[in-house]
Amino acid sequence: MQDQEIIRSHVLVIGSGGAGVRAAIEASNAGTCVLISKTIVGKGGCTIMAEGGYNAVMSEADTISDHYADTMKGGAYLNDPELVRVLTEEAPARMNDLISWGGVFDITDTCTICQRPFGGQCFPRTCYAGDRTGHEIMATLMEQLSNSNVRIFHEISAFDLIVSQGRIVGAFGLDRKGKMYTFLADATVLASGGGTRVYDISTNSSGGNGDGYAMGWRAGAELIDMEQVQFHPTGAVYPWDARGRLVTEAVRGEGGVLKNSNGERFMSRYDPDRMELSTRDVVARACATEIQEGRGTIHGGVWLDVSHLPAKRIEERLPVMLEQFLKYGVDIRTQPMEVGPTAHHIMGGLRITPFCQTTLPGLFACGEVTGGVHGANRLGGNALADTQVFGRRAGAFAGSEPAREIQFPEDQADSAKKMLEKFLAGDASPGTVKREIQRIMWDGAGIFRSKSTLEETRAALDALSKKNLKADSPSGFNECCTVRNMIDTARLIVTGAFLRDESRGAHVRTDIVQDWDAQVSPFGHTILTRTGATIERRKS
Ligand code: FUM
Repeated sequence: MQDQEIIRSHVLVIGSGGAGVRAAIEASNAGTCVLISKTIVGKGGCTIMAEGGYNAVMSEADTISDHYADTMKGGAYLNDPELVRVLTEEAPARMNDLISWGGVFDITDTCTICQRPFGGQCFPRTCYAGDRTGHEIMATLMEQLSNSNVRIFHEISAFDLIVSQGRIVGAFGLDRKGKMYTFLADATVLASGGGTRVYDISTNSSGGNGDGYAMGWRAGAELIDMEQVQFHPTGAVYPWDARGRLVTEAVRGEGGVLKNSNGERFMSRYDPDRMELSTRDVVARACATEIQEGRGTIHGGVWLDVSHLPAKRIEERLPVMLEQFLKYGVDIRTQPMEVGPTAHHIMGGLRITPFCQTTLPGLFACGEVTGGVHGANRLGGNALADTQVFGRRAGAFAGSEPAREIQFPEDQADSAKKMLEKFLAGDASPGTVKREIQRIMWDGAGIFRSKSTLEETRAALDALSKKNLKADSPSGFNECCTVRNMIDTARLIVTGAFLRDESRGAHVRTDIVQDWDAQVSPFGHTILTRTGATIERRKS
């Protein structure tokens, strides 16, 4: 290992997706701010890949209370009501920030912002920039970031938070050459995104390995509802190398229909009122059921068809989808797309207050790494709003922390170094272990779970956790740390799934027969900490 470098700041932000960059912009108003990212800043994370849109009440015909009610119902009433109130009230102002910073979203002939229907919403509330909304948001944020005095560290992966006297005082990081860094800060913002790369088929970028859940859990934070994993109903299924890639909900918002191999518009059997614009948990289960019961396509998907729409509309509203499928040899103006469920978003995560404080003093969190905003099922379009609303809040409240005298954490730095050096003597390929985690999670803790599949998955994860990972190059340390985080994240999902012995939202236990619905469920949050796992009973 090379010698380490020490960097001090008032606020440290970990992660450079939409939430992290928004947090850093805001925190820089309060003092020195350091932003670290395991990719080139602005190129990683999921925001840049987000296609369909951003939910906000932007029309007088819509109301905040409807957005609130849709979000709570869509989340099977597991959402933290206070976080939903903040999300829905502040989403319009944060959209207006983006517009005032130069973001170019689609507008109507009368210069109001265009909004399209998305699943589970009683109003077409999803603002968009074609089907590249996240890209536009990131470009806008990056411009703003470049005008701030945030100190940026590209391609440094945080691998552990630093705890001093019960308080988070920064994080250890590693660059691609295996050099270790110690970042010390009065306040730390965890904005490290999600972790559905623990599944074989996922929409997440390659960095979505659950680093933040694992780091937060190891440092002692409380995590809630980790079993609540959203499977987006429509990922590409063919060609194989595109498997899992997002096929935006905007396709259905624009009028796309789902059909099985018999040509039947099967959503009429699962949600005849909302059809393709039902919530994602319902649509994903419907697609999975059609495939499992033998009515799927030859490559194991279902058909998603927009060929009845005018070609001009497809070209204007879904240009990325059109181009993407043309590369796969499919012209969506005349041919259907082959799609199937893909792991997309973890609704659980670090428990936060409306001020983005986690249960650990000094640690703030925002974006997908947090739990509570989306309950048991996220509405499409609410994630981009979440990044901006809670990103700004996390940056502002972290920035308002007082300055502190922080000593270099000698003992923890030594232990971190020893942990890394152990990888030199390992014998297991991190790549092989990673693929094994993905396979067993997909098979045993996917859309449908039962006690027995979860037991098998847990046993397999326990066995994988005993492997001695091998770093056979300087960048290998990072790969080993990533796999360590994936194992912890996968175990958190499985532990939560065991605990929640009910079906709720995205979490379906096939071994449980229940006679209550979500609104009156006695089960509150599953709570996981390093020292235990429990279910918070709901007050009736
Ligand atoms: O389907 C989509 O465009 C994804 C949007 C989201 O997850 O919010």
